[in-house]
Amino acid sequence: ELRRIPRPPHRVPLLGDVLGVDRHRPLQDSMRFARELGPIFRRRAFGKEFVFVWGARLVADLADESRFAKHVGLGVANLRPVAGDGLFTAYNHEPNWQLAHDVLAPGFSREAMEGYHGMMLSVADRLTDHWDRHLAAGRTVDVPGDMTRLTLETIARTGFGHDFGSFERDRPHPFVTAMVGTLAYAQRLNSVPGPLAPLLLRTAARRNAADIAHLNRTVDGLVAARRRSGGGEGDLLDRMLATAHPRTGEKLSPENVRKQVITFLVAGHETTSGALSFALHHLARHPEIAARARAEVAQVWGDTPRPGYDQVARLRYVRRVLDESLRLWPTAPAFAREARRDTVLAGDHPMRRGAWTLVLTPMLHREPEVWGEDAERFDPDRFTPAAVRARPPHTFKPFGTGARACIGRQFALHEATLVLGLLLRRYDLHADPGYRLSVAERLTLMPEGLRLRLERRPALT
Ligand code: HEM
Repeated sequence: ELRRIPRPPHRVPLLGDVLGVDRHRPLQDSMRFARELGPIFRRRAFGKEFVFVWGARLVADLADESRFAKHVGLGVANLRPVAGDGLFTAYNHEPNWQLAHDVLAPGFSREAMEGYHGMMLSVADRLTDHWDRHLAAGRTVDVPGDMTRLTLETIARTGFGHDFGSFERDRPHPFVTAMVGTLAYAQRLNSVPGPLAPLLLRTAARRNAADIAHLNRTVDGLVAARRRSGGGEGDLLDRMLATAHPRTGEKLSPENVRKQVITFLVAGHETTSGALSFALHHLARHPEIAARARAEVAQVWGDTPRPGYDQVARLRYVRRVLDESLRLWPTAPAFAREARRDTVLAGDHPMRRGAWTLVLTPMLHREPEVWGEDAERFDPDRFTPAAVRARPPHTFKPFGTGARACIGRQFALHEATLVLGLLLRRYDLHADPGYRLSVAERLTLMPEGLRLRLERRPALT
């Protein structure tokens, strides 16, 4: 019943709805179509029809796990050569998904998170040292670059006992360059007709193969080092290498471990880096919000130089700043859902078993019926407990939904809240008045070219 779903009026034979598209910003392009065409719409590209959904009622129905499940398609499917049957890219029916999920989930329990806290703090110290040096030299700071240094070091050290030395380098670590290459390539594959990809993207495909080889080499080295040194302190890598499934006794195979390590190193830092970067952008733009957040930090942390685990969870307003940042620019901006059996979406749209649709999270998060006509306005008070209770379920989905939702959610939120607290306490953040937010896409979102000027606040006594 595709005919009832709105589509753009002008179509080019063969190519489809590609008029006026921005090849490098497919998500923002779809957001434009969404605004014109409404809560469900379709676009055609290279002979294939894609259905996009963002209306609150439709998304809430797609969240019904008894009728729908994650679909591994488009960008996620294009990452299979990189991450194989790792947790993020595994098909629902692949046995390694359940196995890895059960083995790794305890690595994200509250106790595990408390164990990571000290390491997170020490990585944050590296960031503030780095920023202090920039400040002393009268330089502005590269926000996305430095947030990526921070989040990569955090996941690498807490999860894998590995030090990439990101803050000691002027340029991004080659692991990051290779990762960004594979993400951008996976995104680009969506914008060329499948059969022609090998021809059109010959050079890019060669570079992509080299990028994947680099990721594999890095990971193999890291695993070999751990095998040589014996166990770590029960971190993610130890779990991957040594933990048997509590019921079946099965362990992850060496090939699967490689895929999991890549998955966690990439998924574990790229989106958190974007979330922190957008939050810093908004804080610099809204000094009154920054002042309120800073007052909370002062109240909850007092003058403890090193806040404890519980003191981070108590930063409720800082957490709202983060939620509101993830509302406007959810850094993993879409997820796909497929029908488990023949069904009717929201009583309106028949779907055959296996049919799928892409949820446009940034548009769901701007749905006027839920967020109001001022949905574009940055306002952390949309996340007060009362406001959250008043909203229908499934209207805020930055971490996806259901069994395949983000396993690292608490990890990301703890890390990001801690770092925002530390930065707010230490610096006043000044936006460049000439900067216009520009959102770069490489499957994930990042505020491109964002630099801030810092001013040191009075040191703690
Ligand atoms: C899955 C977002 C941080 C690891 C997901 C999904 C989303 C998401 C939307 C579901 C994708 C889908 O349905 O196809 C985010 C955001 C983050 C973040 C916005 C930061 C702000 C992290 C961190 C880790 C992580 C820190 C690891 C330490 C994963 C993994 C999956 C996943 C392994 C796949 C889970 C599964 O299918 O079982 N994430 N994520 N993420 N995320 Fe995150």
